[in-house]
Amino acid sequence: MERLQKVIAYAGVASRRKAEQLITEGKVKVNGKVVRELGTKVSNSDTIEVEGVKLEKEDKVYFLLYKPKGYISAVTDDKGRKTVVDIFKKRVPERIFPVGRLDYETTGLLLLTNDGEFSYQLTHPKFKIDKTYVARVKGVPTIEGLKKLQRGIKLEDGKTAPAKVSMTSFDEKAGKAICEITIHEGRNRQVRRMFEAIGTPVVKLKRERFAFLDLGSLKPGEYRQLTKHEVKQLRVLAETGRLD
Ligand code: URA
Repeated sequence: MERLQKVIAYAGVASRRKAEQLITEGKVKVNGKVVRELGTKVSNSDTIEVEGVKLEKEDKVYFLLYKPKGYISAVTDDKGRKTVVDIFKKRVPERIFPVGRLDYETTGLLLLTNDGEFSYQLTHPKFKIDKTYVARVKGVPTIEGLKKLQRGIKLEDGKTAPAKVSMTSFDEKAGKAICEITIHEGRNRQVRRMFEAIGTPVVKLKRERFAFLDLGSLKPGEYRQLTKHEVKQLRVLAETGRLD
C-alpha cells in the first residue's frame, strides 16, 4: 500500500505537492469515489482517476542516454527548448523523466526512467552515487586549486564534499586544461561553480560515468535500455553504498 499522492507523483502526472493539491481540491477518484484525505493508502489493484483521466499502470523502463548539448533535462520546457524526453518521443510510449539533471550545454551520461522511487534513490545526496565529469577549462588550474577542489571548496550554498580530481592534460601557452572530477553531490551547476571558484571556468563539460555505468560506444543523441542486472546493481549501490 502506498500513499495516494506518492502514487500520482510517481506515475509522472504531477509533482508530489501538485498531487496533494489535486487531492484536496477533490479532483482525484479512487475506485470511482472522490478522495480528499491526503493520507489515503492505495494498492496496485485500485483504479485511480486524476481530473477524469485514469492513471495508467506502466511497466517500469530505464534508459541510458548520451545527452547531446542544447537539450534541457526536463520533460517539458516553458521556453520551447528541446528536452531530453523529446529524443525518445517517437519510440518510447512510457512517461519517462530524467534522473537528476545535466545543464543545457553539458553532454554525457543521463539516465531516464518512469520509476520515481529509483530516481529518488539515485539523486538524493544521502545515497552518494559517484558521477565523473571531464571538464575542459580556461586557464591551467594550480596544484593548490586542484587540492581545494579535492578537499571541498566553499560555494554560495555551502562547502562541497571531498572530490576526486585530476588534470589529464594542460597547455600553458594556449591557456587551457582538461580535468577529470568525480563528485557524489548533485547541486545545481556544481562542477562549473567549483572550477569557477578556483579561477579556471569550464568551457566544455561532459559526464563520462554514473556509478559503474559509462557511455560505451553510444554517440550523442543515442540511448540504450539498462539491463535488469544494472538496475538491480544501481539499487544495491544506492542502498548499501557498495557492490560486492
Ligand atoms: N555540474 C555542472 O556544473 N553541470 C552539469 O551539467 C552537471 C554537473
